[in-house]
Amino acid sequence: MRGSTIAGIGHYVPERVLTNAELERLIDTTDEWIVTRTGIRERRVAADDQASSDLGLEAAREAMADAGVRAEDLDLIIVGTATPDMLFPATACVLQDRLGAKRAGAFDLSAACSSWVYGVAVAHGYVSSGLAETVLVVGAETLSKITNWKDRSTCVLFGDSAGAVVVRPSEPGQGFLSFYLGADGGGAALISQPAGGSRLPASYETVERAQHTLHMNGREVYKFAVRIIPRAIEEAVSRAGLTLADVDLFIPHQANIRIIDAAAKRLGQPREKFFVNVERYGNTSSASVPVALYEAVRAGLIHRGDLAVLVAFGGGLTWGSTALRWTK
Ligand code: UT7
Repeated sequence: MRGSTIAGIGHYVPERVLTNAELERLIDTTDEWIVTRTGIRERRVAADDQASSDLGLEAAREAMADAGVRAEDLDLIIVGTATPDMLFPATACVLQDRLGAKRAGAFDLSAACSSWVYGVAVAHGYVSSGLAETVLVVGAETLSKITNWKDRSTCVLFGDSAGAVVVRPSEPGQGFLSFYLGADGGGAALISQPAGGSRLPASYETVERAQHTLHMNGREVYKFAVRIIPRAIEEAVSRAGLTLADVDLFIPHQANIRIIDAAAKRLGQPREKFFVNVERYGNTSSASVPVALYEAVRAGLIHRGDLAVLVAFGGGLTWGSTALRWTK
């Protein structure tokens, strides 16, 4: 089988910055608590008329320009999101239409914060098997739309953004070298948006109980994250036939600086090898890893031939990692 790689990358963050100081005025919290417990200083919030597809569209256009591909070149569009424009049709179909990608199939992928990593694994499968030449994978989120702004234990954590990549064929041994995807549905209740689906359809009661907003058991998710990130990184590296010492940069899901610090410590890896931008965006779910990768590339931290390991975890519970030999 041939390989696949990232041929282009793009991102978009909304203009509106919401600082910790503003949150201090909204709820019973402090900048000091948020910074010491999470590392987050500010996050971006989409405008009232901006849905996830609007953010994803900007990121997709930049990724396609970077890859030098036209809308007609796309065979498949995958959107990873926990905040689709609507339950159905898929946000990927909204993008397919707005991009004018007439030849492309399109679907959403639901693995919460791991959705984009799951999405590039699917894209790799399509491209390396020859089923597709050019796949657009977007992670687009507007968490602010499902945030309970009265719940201080969650509303300080999340933000809105989008990241996108174009996946194209590569020589074997270049681009994506390995994938590791996992799930534990036993932990489904730890992060969820309980109502609005077929289990709890929308009603006055579900709205009164704020069941259309994000609910999370932060402590349990924290324990899960600290355990799963090192395991997922080690698995991606060993499946690629490499060692941790071969890795130039780790790009972890940006949820909490303490989770990243703990993962670095457990792996015995220098903290400087872990890219961090959580202080500026908070946790942007499926957009977090591609936006971090975008910023790492643009900051000159990843060069052609470098090895990056990308790792995500989130609701489901789900997790996913990949070892990526950068080819651009
Ligand atoms: O994408 C994956 C999704 N999620 C995550 O990765 C989240 C993982 N979890 C975490 O990052 C952390 O567990 C949190 C940041 C959510 C919470 O940090 P923590 O150190 O686990 O705090 P805690 O939940 O144990 O709460 C400690 C205290 C509590 O007060 P008491 O019970 O000790 O009196 C909370 O009520 O902090 C209180 N607290 C706050 N205080 C000020 C909770 N939220 C806030 C807040 N401001 N915003």
